Amino acid sequence: MTSTLGPPPPYYENRGFQPEPPYAARPAAGAHPYPQLFATNPPSVPSYIPRVATHQSSRPAAPPPRRTCAASLRKTIIIILSILIVICCAIAAFFIWYFVENHCLSSLIECGSSGVCMSPSQWCDGVSDCPNGEDETRCVRLFGPNFILEVYSPVSKSWYPVCHDDWNDDYGKIACKDMGYSVDTYFYSRGVPDVSFKSYMKLNTSAGNIDLYKKLYSSGSCASGSVVSLRCIECGLSSKSASIMNRIVGGSGAVLGQWPWQVSLHVQGTHVCGGSIITPHWLVTAAHCVEGRLSDPHSWRVYAGILNQDEMLFRSGYKVQLIISHPDYDTDSKDNDVALMKLETPLSFTETVRPVCLPNPGMMFQPNQQCWISGWGAEYQGGKTSNNLNYVAVPLIEHSRCNSVYIYNGMILPTMICAGDLAGGIDSCQGDSGGPLVTHHHSVWWLVGDTSWGTGCATPNKPGVYGNMTVFTDWIYKNMQANR
Ligand code: ARG
Repeated sequence: MTSTLGPPPPYYENRGFQPEPPYAARPAAGAHPYPQLFATNPPSVPSYIPRVATHQSSRPAAPPPRRTCAASLRKTIIIILSILIVICCAIAAFFIWYFVENHCLSSLIECGSSGVCMSPSQWCDGVSDCPNGEDETRCVRLFGPNFILEVYSPVSKSWYPVCHDDWNDDYGKIACKDMGYSVDTYFYSRGVPDVSFKSYMKLNTSAGNIDLYKKLYSSGSCASGSVVSLRCIECGLSSKSASIMNRIVGGSGAVLGQWPWQVSLHVQGTHVCGGSIITPHWLVTAAHCVEGRLSDPHSWRVYAGILNQDEMLFRSGYKVQLIISHPDYDTDSKDNDVALMKLETPLSFTETVRPVCLPNPGMMFQPNQQCWISGWGAEYQGGKTSNNLNYVAVPLIEHSRCNSVYIYNGMILPTMICAGDLAGGIDSCQGDSGGPLVTHHHSVWWLVGDTSWGTGCATPNKPGVYGNMTVFTDWIYKNMQANR
């Protein structure tokens, strides 16, 4: 964390983090202006030379009427053959188009891009039919800041809120489990009055003991007029109120419980990166923190609820069981710079160890929205890890603005989000990577991003760049679900 305020606390050597390259990150591979999609040499086409029958006969020529008859027969055969060839070509063209464009016939749904087709009735029925289970992974989501539960309808290819009539916690727990949460963290289901919806999913309570999604049917009415708001975990609470923190300008030392989701990730007793707690078992960090030899879970120890690096040296920390790096992470461009860490033993939540909320789809963060970053990173470019946890308020910077020529000139991809002060002076820095960029909205704290990169630290017109968490939530849920 870089700050212009206050005397710098003692520094601790950080051997683990990656030095920031003095030059800008290279654009993504896909950013080539003229991607070469076709081979320069066209494929050779076999050419068929039509052979004319060179039948020779020593016999006297046949009488004219018979010759005309044979000739016209041959002509008809040629015409019929040509028509057949044209029809065959058309059929072949149709099949080529069909397999390239949409693998499945209109009434069927394709399993990812596997080419396997499934009928809509097999989607979201509680039985995994697709090779990778895609038919059961995207059936529920929480939408917007009120955590409105929505169910996907494969038939109409859209999401519907769930009517609160007859809903109970048992259904809520099933929906949370389907998103990758454990029932142990289940918080609540609540009815939220909302008349803005035109269609709902309703429970058919007489349907007996069948799968939740089979009990749901779409309906134009909802008697209570309330939709289900579902919380799978009590997240985003800090023991310090947001109004107090709003008064702080520049970098400051944090107090216990202020950023309870912040963790310090150690390799061989040294702080390397930050991370954020999202469940008792799962942390979010940056993919660049766990590259190469650091992708081994055994290299890491996780410290939660401790402000002081010195103090961590006397503790054993939590062991890591699994590291999942985003499959599309790109080292050069830092595209998809996000990773998940699964702990061997779950964290127990207290006042000082708590999860942050993952952003839901449909959450619009304002262009200049006030956010906060925290971490043990260097306090100036080239400095050492800070002994104490620091934090600073940073406003978000609009995507188009951050991509302008005088800022990052097109290097900000959709998986990234910029935050900081263009005047310089406040920023994240080496060692803050993987740590949280959070905002306070609707009385909870949301994880907006994970610290990723920047040119220098706190340099004017070179703000901090963070992984855009809203883009990653789907991937996070899918992986928590698949690795329970
Ligand atoms: N890549 C750095 C790390 O490994 C984080 C850098 C953030 N830089 C910045 N100017 N905001 O810790």
